[in-house]
Amino acid sequence: SKQRTAPDILAMKGGGRIAMLTAYDFPTARLADEAGADAILVGDSLGMVCLGLPDTLGVTMDHMLHHTAAVVRGVARALVVADMPFLSYHTGVGEAVANAGRFLQQAGARAVKLEGGAEFVPHIQAMLAAGIPVMGHIGLTPQQVARFGGFKAQGKTARAAKALLADARALAQAGCFALVLEAVPAEVAERITAEIPIPTIGIGAGPRCDGQVLVFHDVLGLCPGLRPSFVKQYTDLWTPAREALAAYCREVREGAFPAEANTRRMAPDELDAFQA
Ligand code: KIV
Ligand code: NA
Repeated sequence: SKQRTAPDILAMKGGGRIAMLTAYDFPTARLADEAGADAILVGDSLGMVCLGLPDTLGVTMDHMLHHTAAVVRGVARALVVADMPFLSYHTGVGEAVANAGRFLQQAGARAVKLEGGAEFVPHIQAMLAAGIPVMGHIGLTPQQVARFGGFKAQGKTARAAKALLADARALAQAGCFALVLEAVPAEVAERITAEIPIPTIGIGAGPRCDGQVLVFHDVLGLCPGLRPSFVKQYTDLWTPAREALAAYCREVREGAFPAEANTRRMAPDELDAFQA
């Protein structure tokens, strides 16, 4: 089937639920695409899950372009959305458009995502004028971790929830084709979903969003350690992977690998000539 576009995702509002996954390189992108994800986000979470950083503040445009290009090469059906990293769009509308455009021009993505509310409406409108579809992201916006004082759920008070609703309306009005809601109470996500005309994609935002997103490594158990309760680990690939790698190391040391089946030998006549 043909590749999904940003308008296809927008058109899923009120229809079937949208399944989004992150991916960070060629094999993870192929897996998410073959599994049937509607959209694949090259999240700046790659700083944490791929680069071992403590948060997303150290992720650069160069990191994002490098990973996005690899993801694009692995995807046939899903929409590829690239995450705008810290400081790539905050310093001005011109720089925001230029950096967003690099994801389409240099890496082959077909949409970008950025964290933030109404304060970024001018940036989003300029991106749209340039032909770049934009996904919004409000709630727990991890690039604000220093200001929030940690990875803390947002929108817990009536006042904070109303501010999120106002931001959601502004982002939809600006022309975003979808909106990520991260770590907000289910009631807040449900009301935003009911009141805006674009799909909401939740992570830690309850069951009433128009779609859901999870981090690839969290789904497959490739990120051992503490996971927030809203994450569902569907399988544990870490343990069998480590055991397989340990078996290889053991067999090398014992001389059991390579066995005859893993060995190439010369043709008998060539061997005779070689040994003569
Ligand atoms: O970077 C990321 O993975 C994200 C999703 C969790 C929405 O922004
Ligand atoms: Na992100």
